[in-house]
Amino acid sequence: MKHFLTALALSGTLFASGGVLAQDTGISVENGDRIARIGGCHDCHTPGFAEANGELDPAQALVGSPVGYQGPWGTTYASNLRIVAAGMGEEEFADYLRNLQAMPPMPWFNLHYFTDNELRSLHQYIVSLGEVGEPAPAYVPPGEAPQTPFIVFAPPQMP
Ligand code: HEC
Repeated sequence: MKHFLTALALSGTLFASGGVLAQDTGISVENGDRIARIGGCHDCHTPGFAEANGELDPAQALVGSPVGYQGPWGTTYASNLRIVAAGMGEEEFADYLRNLQAMPPMPWFNLHYFTDNELRSLHQYIVSLGEVGEPAPAYVPPGEAPQTPFIVFAPPQMP
């Protein structure tokens, strides 16, 4: 009897967690945290994140990059997403991201696949990060010299 009850309890747990994973997981800061990670947002928008092998410094989370990305489009900087989120309500933020088009290397086309709950969760997470801080450096058009370090996106010259 005891074994039977344990088995029943275990299968109940598995069923419950399976059910939760299969559903859209609702709107929460925790889900937003997860979306920012699996969406790769920290890779560019959080300074030092990739260099620290994905160990997140909460003070730096999504504050934007001081290092530019240079290519034929000019030099872009991953924006301070805390400022973006602070300036909008949850719904407006979700609409903005769903319809966003931006310059490289921002993978804006991927944002169009997030669910409404995921975008709202992302907003809650970003707002929870606290002080918004300073904007990232301004975009520099092609042919003009950036005043910051930058990474050049260019294919190597083939022989
Ligand atoms: C490969 C680097 C990279 C990744 C990954 C990335 N971004 Fe960006 N993002 C950028 C750059 C660079 C810009 C600035 C583009 C521009 O100036 O047009 C930007 C701009 C944006 C903007 C526009 C901000 C504004 O000022 O209006 C939003 C919103 C944004 N990113 C959200 C995200 C989210 C959410 C994720 C994760 C799902 C993400 N980004 C992942 C590089 C990246």
